[in-house]
Parts: sequence; C-alpha cells; structure tokens
Amino acid sequence: MTVKIFGTPEVQDFLKTVAGFDQEGGNERAKQIMHRLLSDLYKLIDDFDVSEEEYWFAVSLLNALGHDTQFGLLSPGLGFDHFLDMRQDATDAEAKRTGGTPRTIEGPLYVAGAPEAEGFARMDDDSDPDAEVMWLTGQVRDVDGTPIPGAKVEIWHCNSKGCYSFFDPTQDEYNMRRTIYADSEGRYTARSIIPSGYGVPEGAPTDVVLKSLGRHGERPAHIHYFVSAPGHQHLTTQINLAGDPYTFDDFAFATREELVVPAKRIEDKDEIAKRELDGSFSEVVFDIELAKTEQTELQHRHARPRAKAKEDKQDQASQLAASAKV
Ligand code: BEZ
Ligand code: FE
Repeated sequence: MTVKIFGTPEVQDFLKTVAGFDQEGGNERAKQIMHRLLSDLYKLIDDFDVSEEEYWFAVSLLNALGHDTQFGLLSPGLGFDHFLDMRQDATDAEAKRTGGTPRTIEGPLYVAGAPEAEGFARMDDDSDPDAEVMWLTGQVRDVDGTPIPGAKVEIWHCNSKGCYSFFDPTQDEYNMRRTIYADSEGRYTARSIIPSGYGVPEGAPTDVVLKSLGRHGERPAHIHYFVSAPGHQHLTTQINLAGDPYTFDDFAFATREELVVPAKRIEDKDEIAKRELDGSFSEVVFDIELAKTEQTELQHRHARPRAKAKEDKQDQASQLAASAKV
C-alpha cells in the first residue's frame, strides 16, 4: 500500500507557497504555470510512487541535459516541437488561413547571419569530394499560383556525415547555410551536396531518455527552410528526401507527406553541362506556396534564442578581452 498525500490540505497549501501565491512580486503567469506544473509533477510522484532513486536519477539527467545544451534536442524528440506546429495549424485553420506549403519544426541547429545571394548560391565549400552533388531548385508562389520575386529563402542542411557547420567546428563557418532571394520569376537555386540523416549522439543524455522509451534518435536526410515575403505568412519547414529508411520514422516527428521529395539522379550530358558540373548529380525540386496575410507579426519567424556565428565570435572576442584585463 503506497501513501497518497497529494490531495491533503497540507500539500495543497504547500504548493501555493512554493509557487509564490502569497508573494507580491514576480510574474502572475509564471506563478500560475509553475503551480500547475508542480501540481502535475507532485501528483505524478504520488500516483507512480516514484522512489527517491528514480527522482534523483531524473535530477541528474536534467543536469546532464543542461550541461550538454541538449534540451533543444530532447524537445523535438519528446514531440513538443511538433505539438506546437499542430497548435499553429489549428490556429491557422480557425482563422481560415488555409493553403500553402505545410510547416514543420525548425529544430535546434539553425544559425542566423548566413551569406546572402540573389537567385543562385553555392552552399557547400567543396570539402566533401565523395558527396553527391545536389541541385536544389524551386519556385516561390502565393496560394493563387502567382510567383513571388524577391522572396527570402533561407536554407540549411548537414553534410554527408550528418554534421552541421557551427555545431561541428571542423567545417567552415556557414558551410551549407545560405539565404537566397528568389529571382524575378520567384525561383531559387542552390548547388550543394546531398545531406545524410542525423543521429542523436550515442550515449548522450537525450539518447538515454530515448533508449528508456525503446526509441531511436535518428532523423531522415532533410533540408531546412525559412521562407518569407512581405504580405505573406512566414514559413518554417523542411523537406525529407524520399527513400531514406527513416523518412517515416523520424525521431523528431517532422515528416509530413507533402514534404517528402525525391532526389532524381541526372546523368544526361547536356543537363550536366548546362549547370557547369563535372559529372552526374541529383536534382531536388521543391516549389513553395506562401499563404497571404496582412498581419505583420505573422510575416516574421517567431522569436527564440538562435545561434549566430558572427556574434558568437564577437562575444568570444570580448570575453577574451575581458579575461585579458583580469
Ligand atoms: C535537425 O534539424 O537536424 C534536428 C531536429 C531535431 C532534433 C535534432 C536534429
Ligand atoms: Fe536538421
């Protein structure tokens, strides 16, 4: 027989004290949310008769996640990012903002400030000679099919080993990260390399959580997009390359049927010459439709802390300068 004390007046009063209900200062919303969160967790401890060992193991796992900055990795793994997308989809449907390319999660590996180009960009730094050349192209249109010249298309993806520049210090800054402004016909084109899937590092705190659920930490080969244009709703999305074993088994739950795109092998000499390539390549075509909106707040991506390689360097430089003064 396990004890159940959650419903006692003593515990209920204690929860109110812990959440600061009897304090003047602080933030009312923070108090309400913390009270609810703690109530749910206290009740869970009671209901599942969580042992001291289990509780302190969880605390040490949280410490490890924080130490390794892995909450951004665990969040999609536990479906929070996809759940937020589902809420956005429902909000759009209620406001009758329908149509357009579906959104899907941003993930934790975007870096702001990538080099900009008009119409075309070479994204890779040629340091992966064995990788398959990817010719990535498409047209940005509104939901009526009208092209959107000048649309801002930000693209980022990993290399053939599943590693992202900035997070992988062996790669050049901004390797496989570019901002392309669509040409006069709304078209964007990038030359890059076919990315591979991504895997949560073996043994990392996120991996420990996933393994305890009997799950893997693999993502299929994918390419990220932010697409925006004045008068249109900002789009955060990804495409998944068809045929990957994890296309429909993504640990981050980002796959959407409409976003699975084939990489078509092209061997035709004229097509190769037209693109000034040396040999066969894979073409990926992804057209994008943006919903219209006059609401300026919907025309920009939501705010969240994001990495920025340049600023980071400045921060590092100022930190170095500060430590030099000590
Ligand atoms: C990614 O975009 O590669 C990614 C997304 C969620 C978790 C881990 C990686
Ligand atoms: Fe990714």
